[in-house]
Amino acid sequence: MDLPLLKNAKKISGKKFLVRIDVNVPILNGEVQDNFRIKRLIPTLSFLKKKKGKIILLSHHSDEKQTLKPMAQYLNTFFKTSFVPDMFAAKAFEEEDALFLCENLRFYKEEEENEAVFSEKLASLGDIYINEAFSVSHRKHASVVSLPKLLPHYAGFLFQEEIKNLEAVFNPPKPFLFILGGRKADTKLALAQKFIDIADYIFIGGAVVNNIFKAQGYEVGRSIVDDGISGFENLMRSKNIVFPKDVVVQKESGVVSVKSPGEVLLDEKILDAGPEALNILKGLIRSSAFIVWNGPLGQYEIGFEKSTIEMIEAFRESKAKKVVGGGDTIAAISKLGDQKDFDFISTGGGAMLEFLVNRTLPGIEVLKH
Ligand code: 3PG
Repeated sequence: MDLPLLKNAKKISGKKFLVRIDVNVPILNGEVQDNFRIKRLIPTLSFLKKKKGKIILLSHHSDEKQTLKPMAQYLNTFFKTSFVPDMFAAKAFEEEDALFLCENLRFYKEEEENEAVFSEKLASLGDIYINEAFSVSHRKHASVVSLPKLLPHYAGFLFQEEIKNLEAVFNPPKPFLFILGGRKADTKLALAQKFIDIADYIFIGGAVVNNIFKAQGYEVGRSIVDDGISGFENLMRSKNIVFPKDVVVQKESGVVSVKSPGEVLLDEKILDAGPEALNILKGLIRSSAFIVWNGPLGQYEIGFEKSTIEMIEAFRESKAKKVVGGGDTIAAISKLGDQKDFDFISTGGGAMLEFLVNRTLPGIEVLKH
């Protein structure tokens, strides 16, 4: 993909760098709970530090009331970082030799509205714009799609790495196994449609497959299903789509059992893939050269983690190249596995899925011009 890359940027020393990052990470009692996204920013920030300019960092948090102060404190363990509560204040960026992390962009409704005057005001803070926030580049927000129109711009190192690794999914080593779990059935079933002719096998688990069971006419009881999803009937007929042959269900009384999807009762909830499904999946993992995984197979947060753990163990033994991503998936790996077992972990959740469906994102397109 032809993008202006930060690593190739010329004559940028001493400039004011306006860097869009994504430090949208969980915070508990004022402390960063997951440093995965923040650590991945270090190469770009180190590179810019050497250019002796001013580094102004912009980010959002999904929680519109969450301050970015704890993220500034965390960044401060790597680089001297100053938190800027009001980026438009006259003396906001005066401190010497510091990175500046500005307050949550979503404190300003104009960010999500992609409002023109706000975009101009943001642009006036810097000389050069760098997108190092692939994970929010599916949003048409001011800091993502307007700033590149107003300033010379580049794609950061992580942004470039995301695109390189996710582009590879469209031209994969074979056999290619795609594993989809978790929630967001609409996006994931759209992905399955997209990859039906590219992947050798697509295994569908998690809450996504409940929608298929329901469409097949099975009772799904109290299981999570999304309303109003249609147009995936061809998936049910396709030979390379694999659904769990058995599922773990829990009754309202708490009793847990393993059943075939056709046996689920009204008072039961599907919470994990069963042992037979897992054996089939493990066989597919063993024989694959390339695996993409998004979304846990069961509701591991409440203890239905067996199939996801066993799948991660099977990954560890497999020599396939493994690409994964998504907030749920990364959280599941942190709890049940080890990041070292994967070749590439995308920082994108929605952005990764949307990139895989459309092969681009709004934030990528604007960098091209
Ligand atoms: C994410 O976590 O997926 C990104 O930071 C985007 O966040 P958003 O869904 O609140 O736009």
